[in-house]
Amino acid sequence: MRTQVVIVGGGPSGLLLGQLLHKQGIETVLLERKTREYVLARIRAGILETGLVNMMREAGVAERMDRECFVHHGTCISYENEMFAIDFHKLIGQNVVVYGQTELTHDLYDAREAIDATTVFEVENVQIIDADRDAPYVTYVSGGAEHRIDCDFIAGCDGFHGVSRKTIPETVRKEYEKIFPFGWLGILSETPPVHDELIYANSTRGFALCSMRNENLSRYYVQCDQTDKVENWSDDAFWDELKRRLPEAIAEKLVTGPSIEKSIAPLRSFVTEPMRWGRLFLCGDAAHIVPPTGAKGLNTAASDVHYLHEALVRFYRDKDMGGIEHYSEKALARVWKAERFSWSTTNLLHRFPDQSDFDLKMQRAEIESLHYNEIAQRWFAQNYVGLPY
Ligand code: APR
Ligand code: PHB
Repeated sequence: MRTQVVIVGGGPSGLLLGQLLHKQGIETVLLERKTREYVLARIRAGILETGLVNMMREAGVAERMDRECFVHHGTCISYENEMFAIDFHKLIGQNVVVYGQTELTHDLYDAREAIDATTVFEVENVQIIDADRDAPYVTYVSGGAEHRIDCDFIAGCDGFHGVSRKTIPETVRKEYEKIFPFGWLGILSETPPVHDELIYANSTRGFALCSMRNENLSRYYVQCDQTDKVENWSDDAFWDELKRRLPEAIAEKLVTGPSIEKSIAPLRSFVTEPMRWGRLFLCGDAAHIVPPTGAKGLNTAASDVHYLHEALVRFYRDKDMGGIEHYSEKALARVWKAERFSWSTTNLLHRFPDQSDFDLKMQRAEIESLHYNEIAQRWFAQNYVGLPY
């Protein structure tokens, strides 16, 4: 088989890239290790920057999103009984959109099916060969047989545990990592959200987040130990702990109910450089991870897709290598800014095991600066809604 671009990984990065390339007449084959159902069972964040919303529209997959999403003009931050709003709209005239990553991925799979592009699920042993030469190819096992696809380029959209990043020789690759000493325990419940905006809560008991998907579907998180297990947390224990971390007036309004999903996620910052090796491009979680404070994971994946799609279109339409040559540099410049924001918001809002009284005072002073200083709020707002591409 031969195609123009092989996309390894059918998460949001690979799917969105495939759709944008299809719009420009560029052919792709997408290889996914799991089934569509498995991919769609993953619950992830649901805050979309305008850049991603626009790309969904450009890709022609925004119809349901535009109908069902919720526009959020700001977000709230609390510390003990204090709470304040950062009004993105008033501060910088921008907003974000609430639409679950699961829904977005669902729409992208439907769109891919409709264009009849080749998608192979449950592939095993994907190998990317000769990515640093002129005639690369990808081999994989499907249905017990080995297959080969010759191609011009490979988009490594296979997430943090994928094969693409590891294809780049260790002598070329440099990795930067920070593991945070805690996790997030999250639940999804069919209850109305406690507030109309998200609430990021700093408390002496640790961080909490009140988020939502729609009028009757809420997503809540509490900071937990790195080694904690979901089995240790009954629904009642979760709700109790959440209430204790929120301002009293909010805790009183919280509607609780059975969880329909409960999971623990570790918090990690990670970047690999470069993001291109010859004809192989890394995109999304394959190249970088952010802690979820600030909801930058999906949005940073989307900015990679933007630069990569632009680079490939320039190559096929104008025979211009410029976008390809500068992909890594351009993508990384924005990635590092999102890493900084996610890291600093994580530091601002969590309890760290080794935090001294001095560290706590510093954290408090920083939250108060954000509460009372409009310039600090504008800076936060610009980063939260997403820096320009
Ligand atoms: N071969 C084929 N597919 C693979 C392989 C492999 N060797 N390894 C992993 N995959 C698939 C995974 O099963 C997954 O469906 O690649 C996909 C990667 O998807 P994501 O992990 O969702 O990564 P990405 O598309 O970059 O999305 C980034 O999603 O993971 C969140 O927090 C992240 O919100 C961010 C966004
Ligand atoms: C979520 O809704 O799951 C969510 C929202 C904002 C974040 C992280 C997760 O910063």
